[in-house]
Amino acid sequence: MLRIAVLVSGGGSNLQAILDAIDSGKLDSVMVELVISSNREAYALKRAENRGIPTMVIDGRDWPGPRERDGRLLEVLDELNPDLIVLAGYMKILPKSIVGRFPRRIINIHPSLIPKFCGEGFYGMRVHRAVLESGEQVSGATVHYVDEGVDTGEILLQEQVPVLREDTPESLAARVLETEHRILPEVLSKLSREIK
Ligand code: GAR
Repeated sequence: MLRIAVLVSGGGSNLQAILDAIDSGKLDSVMVELVISSNREAYALKRAENRGIPTMVIDGRDWPGPRERDGRLLEVLDELNPDLIVLAGYMKILPKSIVGRFPRRIINIHPSLIPKFCGEGFYGMRVHRAVLESGEQVSGATVHYVDEGVDTGEILLQEQVPVLREDTPESLAARVLETEHRILPEVLSKLSREIK
């Protein structure tokens, strides 16, 4: 069984895709042990609670600064010692202290074709706005290992989607999300066969 911790910040549709894949038997050797949110209002927390999965909030607003917040996150992850940490719409950059502790044990999903439209400042809807402004004809989603850079780790899986002339950031985001919901469980399935 691949024991995973999922880190979230918002809607949690990628978390939902993982949970649905587990329920449908497509990810039968993956177990979500804990969902950690950087935002106490995240709907992702509700999704986890609905499935009876333990949740934890480590919200920067409850800590004097990012160092203390990340210190707590490291403590929790150290204690849980999951096989894999999945950043599924996690909007904070993990510090070196955490990345260094879990080499090749943290993966992230990003809503663009890395190395395009990634790195600091490129997250969520900002990515899709930038893609549309640039006039690109394709975008997509990428699952990659997390290393000490921002969105620079080894790519595990990437899939393209077309950018349509009539796209808005929202319509492009929805098309990319559909792809995310397919490729994230696919990577987890592959890793669950390799790691355990
Ligand atoms: C997803 O599109 C994910 O790729 C993106 O945020 C969205 C979260 O959606 N992540 C990043 O931009 C990280 N750099 P969700 O909360 O519904 O899964």
